[in-house]
Amino acid sequence: MTASHPVVPERVVIDTDPGVDDAIALLMALSSPQMEVLGLTTTAGNVPIGPATRNALAILESLGRTDIPVAKGATRPVRGRFAYARDVHSAAGLTHPLPPPTSRTSDTGAVQFLAQTLRANPGAVTVIALGPLTNLARLHRDHPTVLPLAKHLLVMGGAVDTPGNVTPQAEFNFYSDPTAARLVMEAGIPLTLIDMAPCRQVFLTRTDVENARPSSAAGILAERLLAGWFRQGAARERFNMYDPLTLVAALNANAIKLRSVTMTVDDSTTTNDSALWGRCRVLDETAGPISVAEPGGVDVTTSLLMIRDLLGWSQPAAN
Ligand code: RIB
Ligand code: CA
Repeated sequence: MTASHPVVPERVVIDTDPGVDDAIALLMALSSPQMEVLGLTTTAGNVPIGPATRNALAILESLGRTDIPVAKGATRPVRGRFAYARDVHSAAGLTHPLPPPTSRTSDTGAVQFLAQTLRANPGAVTVIALGPLTNLARLHRDHPTVLPLAKHLLVMGGAVDTPGNVTPQAEFNFYSDPTAARLVMEAGIPLTLIDMAPCRQVFLTRTDVENARPSSAAGILAERLLAGWFRQGAARERFNMYDPLTLVAALNANAIKLRSVTMTVDDSTTTNDSALWGRCRVLDETAGPISVAEPGGVDVTTSLLMIRDLLGWSQPAAN
């Protein structure tokens, strides 16, 4: 960027189930001069839709960004029921208490908000999905011409040729709503999938959090959330930056080397074996609309530097 040619911020809508790592990703997006957050759409996932939506409102309010609309979304998956992850994110969904938000959600629901925003800005808005894909699946089912209007679509989810984090086969977002994941992965829409493989390599430790020395309101809240998360489990050694890495991929196309595949996701329509629901199945390793990380393709150092920089955390001493 030069003074005469300032970078034009990426306009984004973030679909989210906050959730601690969602919260860190939101704080990064709100701190980035490269990103203009047009709105948040919420989904149940880590916690039920009530706490998830309340947390989204509270995070925006804590940074004075009640100008950004929050559109409430999915209460339950396309099929079945959400399992939630209160054991990971706490019952409230955040591991540091925030004042109850005074702002209210938009009168428009999540699916309608996504449809209106993408129709009004064809080819100009990036959608970043950080939770179960229920809202996006319903959008594509009810308005099949809309999701292709996104400039880019990035999804945190899945476990491609690597173990899951909920079952040996399934990652949490895909496990929570496998039918929604299958519908989006089979839609033929180009998307970047940040799956378990790169996410396993990008994490913060207890010591990283203790040495954060944040210089911004966003960074202070991130430090408090992560310190709270580590306090809740003496055996907790690393906090995986699932959703924050997806934000890094949205901001820096060079952070993760990608390969193109065609894939589907197992659900109750593809197998009666529920142990396989949420499993990613690659149908073509050489081509397709899904861009997924190459094995060992994530630049861990650059990704962590970007996360710390966006949060206004000090950079680790060179070892
Ligand atoms: O498996 C990790 C994903 O599931 C993250 O998005 C986390 O927030 C949960 O939603
Ligand atoms: Ca999430």
